[in-house]
Amino acid sequence: RLGLMTKRLGQHIHYEESVDSTQKIALQLSLDGAPEGTVVIAEEQTNGRGRMARTWFSPKYTGIWMSVILRPQLLPHKAPQLTLVTAVAVVQAIEELVSIKPQIKWPNDILIDGKKMTGILTELQAESDRINSVIIGIGINANQELEVYPEELQSIATSLRIETGKTINRAELIKLVLAKIEHLYDVYLQEGFYPIKLLWESYAVSIGKMITARMLQGNLYGKALGITDDGALMMEDELGKVHLVYSADIEI
Ligand code: BTN
Repeated sequence: RLGLMTKRLGQHIHYEESVDSTQKIALQLSLDGAPEGTVVIAEEQTNGRGRMARTWFSPKYTGIWMSVILRPQLLPHKAPQLTLVTAVAVVQAIEELVSIKPQIKWPNDILIDGKKMTGILTELQAESDRINSVIIGIGINANQELEVYPEELQSIATSLRIETGKTINRAELIKLVLAKIEHLYDVYLQEGFYPIKLLWESYAVSIGKMITARMLQGNLYGKALGITDDGALMMEDELGKVHLVYSADIEI
């Protein structure tokens, strides 16, 4: 009943009032053979998952908590590129809906005014060298007021409502996000990662800036140069040596 603008994405929508995590449900559906484009949407997640084993705060009726099943014929190491496809899609959808230009912080945070408004989590299900499915989880803070956030999040999180002062029509936003993902996914499958990478870099906050990458192995301070074809962040340290960062938190 969303009145979708897509041909493949969202033709099968599993709508739930409350779940632990839409990622978990989507993963089970994909193991059960759900077709590409199947979407799981919930009003609330009691155990929403974030990157690096963090939780994702997902209060009822205010956000967009959804997972999309894709089944691309790609080598597993290319799957992180789909995170960047999704990040560009969400930014474009938000630009179109509320006319503000969010920024992307590597690898997958979408920020407004330096505060996180959207997170993306890509999970891969592969057998040896074949991708069976990629589950893309998208959490968009749409209509939350600042007070609903736990105190430790109040200085780092935001919602579209907080930033624009307007109530967001979540169904419209879901429709737009799915339409943008479908379009960019087609571009990606037909033309490869390069056009996506250019778009991604045009929205990125960190490129060209001095940043700190906090990693398990320690911190790296340097200039963010851009991203590689597999989505790694290229950084130049103070001695001019270039490093590839695959997993880290970035501080600008
Ligand atoms: C992050 O920035 O750490 C990623 C957050 C991803 C949150 C979304 S909400 C829908 C989907 N289901 C989950 O449990 N997580 C993702």
